[in-house]
Order: sequence, then structure tokens, then C-alpha cells
Amino acid sequence: MQHYNDILAEVLIDEETLQSRIRELGAEISVDYPDGNLLLICILRGGVPFLVHLSRYITAPHMMDFMAVSSYGAGKRESSGTVRVTFDLQTDIHSKDVLLVEDIVDSGHTIASVLEMLNLRQPRSLKVCALLDKAERREAVVPIHYRGFTIPNKFVFGFGLDLDEYYRNLPFVGVVDLEKYKPPS
Ligand code: IMP
Ligand code: MG
Repeated sequence: MQHYNDILAEVLIDEETLQSRIRELGAEISVDYPDGNLLLICILRGGVPFLVHLSRYITAPHMMDFMAVSSYGAGKRESSGTVRVTFDLQTDIHSKDVLLVEDIVDSGHTIASVLEMLNLRQPRSLKVCALLDKAERREAVVPIHYRGFTIPNKFVFGFGLDLDEYYRNLPFVGVVDLEKYKPPS
């Protein structure tokens, strides 16, 4: 894998801007969920850094759990209409106030299917918190109740978002220079 400095077209959202927006979201969520029934659900793996930072800014008592999904018949960077659960929650979400925490909503298919699936388990409420919203690419209708940033239709990496599984650790969100990037074979 190339060093990120060699394939970074631009820093789209720097560390300070990310942190101050995540702090605002945490404050908003703390006000909206005062009664200690909140369950944050992180979708692996991209949602991990966002969940960790966001939960530190949520002062209301809350729980967290994790799930992983994969989409069928999709190209590497395209998502299809159907998702399959590859790692399920360990928590019964019935009567909980569930907040789904995602790195990015792109076509919207992933979140739309996850919402449909979780709704069947009858949570008390079910909302979505997405760090990034690539709104131009939307194909499925998904409600985003808490949104970090709306971003242009560019392939981004860092802060949970991967470039062929690398660079989820970066503290900023950057745009990939597709002319310079050579995917691992
Ligand atoms: P959706 O089902 O099209 O909304 O796909 C969302 C998933 O695609 C995200 O959870 C990411 O894993 C991935 N994704 C979409 N856009 C990007 C990007 O620009 N960089 C990295 N991953 C992305
Ligand atoms: Mg993801």
C-alpha cells in the first residue's frame, strides 16, 4: 500500500473540524436522549472511529453494540439493494432507543436495509446518525436525523473510511487522488 501522502488529493475535513462537529452532535444527542435508554449501534468496520469519538461526547447514559453487514452482488465500491448480516447484535433492541452510527451514507442501500431489518425487532425508536452524507449519490430514501457533513461525490478515506481496507485510522477525511492510487493486486 502506498503512503497516504502520495495518494491524497486534498484533506476534505481536517481533524479539528471533525472533532468540533462530532462534539456538537454529541451534545445534541445528549439533549434528545435524556432517559438512559439509548443504544448506539455501530456498523462495522467503518463506523468504529466515529462511534468511539461520538460516544465520548454523549453525556447521557447509553449502551453500545456492533453489527456487520455485507452487500450481495455488488462491486467493490458499489452497494446493491440487498444486505446480509454477517455479525449480529448481542443485545435485544426491543423497546430500546436505537441510534445507528454510520461513517457514510452513499447510495443509501446499506442503511435502508439495516433499518428495515431492525424495525422488525420493535425498538422504541430508531434513528440514524451519519458522519458523512454523499447526498448526490442517493438511490434509496433514508432519513438521516443527525448528519456530520454533506460531502461531494468523491471517493474519500480516513476516519473509518477505508481505501482497500487501509487508512481507517487517519484522524482526518481525505480525497483519493485516483490518478496516483494503484489498488493492491
Ligand atoms: P451505501 O449502501 O451505498 O450507502 O454504502 C455505504 C458504504 O459504502 C459505506 O458504509 C462505506 O463502507 C462505503 N463507501 C461509500 N462511499 C465511500 C467512500 O467514499 N470511501 C470509502 N467507503 C465508502
Ligand atoms: Mg461502511
